[in-house]
Amino acid sequence: MPPDRYVVIGNPVAHSKSPAIHASFAAQTAQHIDYRHLLAPLDGFAEAVLSFRQAGGKGANVTVPFKLDAFALATRLTPRAQAAGAVNTLKFDGDTILGDNTDGQGLIADIVRNAGVAIKGKRVLLLGAGGAARGALLPLLEQEPKELVIANRTVAKAQELMALAHQQAQNAAMVARVKTSSFSALDGAFDVVINATSASLHEDVPPVPSTVFTTASLAYDMMYGAQPTAFLRFAAAHGAQVRDGLGMLVEQAAVAFELWRGVAPATATVLAELRSALTTSAS
Ligand code: ATR
Repeated sequence: MPPDRYVVIGNPVAHSKSPAIHASFAAQTAQHIDYRHLLAPLDGFAEAVLSFRQAGGKGANVTVPFKLDAFALATRLTPRAQAAGAVNTLKFDGDTILGDNTDGQGLIADIVRNAGVAIKGKRVLLLGAGGAARGALLPLLEQEPKELVIANRTVAKAQELMALAHQQAQNAAMVARVKTSSFSALDGAFDVVINATSASLHEDVPPVPSTVFTTASLAYDMMYGAQPTAFLRFAAAHGAQVRDGLGMLVEQAAVAFELWRGVAPATATVLAELRSALTTSAS
């Protein structure tokens, strides 16, 4: 039997670590799959997906800049994709194109399971109000934090996100936990501070007061690199425990793999290998 075929679709896409991650998962779980990069033209996402499906493809991961196109192309959406307003995983099933979003679940798994930091009953600060923050919102609320403050440079966008949380939340108690703030008006310390802005791409730090961090805080950046981001360096300088988004990358892949193959891969070794490759390439 030929292997079942999957791809990660993006533009650019050659840098994506997803093929390596899924190859490790497949070897570990004895799944017979073939997973590659697929570069789609900026104006040709749907055509690229449909011809891959036509050629026998079983599913795809979707990365920048196509997560909204994938949302539009899906003929059925999981509740978490609906809530995120974006799709990072497609599964082809007959005529159905199922759209899922595994990013938020990946974030929660990396914080709660890998870092061992509970969110339930905690004070959580979410920085940013773009697509990455939106994808994290419902999965964070499902963990039942004591309070979830969304802070953004453009406060109106944080308020829009809060309104969305009100629509998505399953009960009034969940809704009451969500607040918004500007960066400068942030008050007091938080147990978990998540950077979902794209500031790290520009070596920038959202201008939050250093008092949001204590030595008991976890500062989490959804971005990752060979070196800690400027945000993580700032948080560490104020005593926080820090963690970048490499684990989120591996965990979101594991959720996609399970959706496709029905078996949950172990992630610790894959994460350790990726970390070691990142560090080695930097030295
Ligand atoms: P993504 O899909 O990665 O979330 P996005 O939708 O463009 O990307 O959102 C980017 C987020 O990063 C926004 O919250 C943006 O703030 P604004 O809404 O005020 O634009 C935030 N952001 C980008 N650069 C930033 C910076 N240098 N400092 C603080 N916030 C920044």
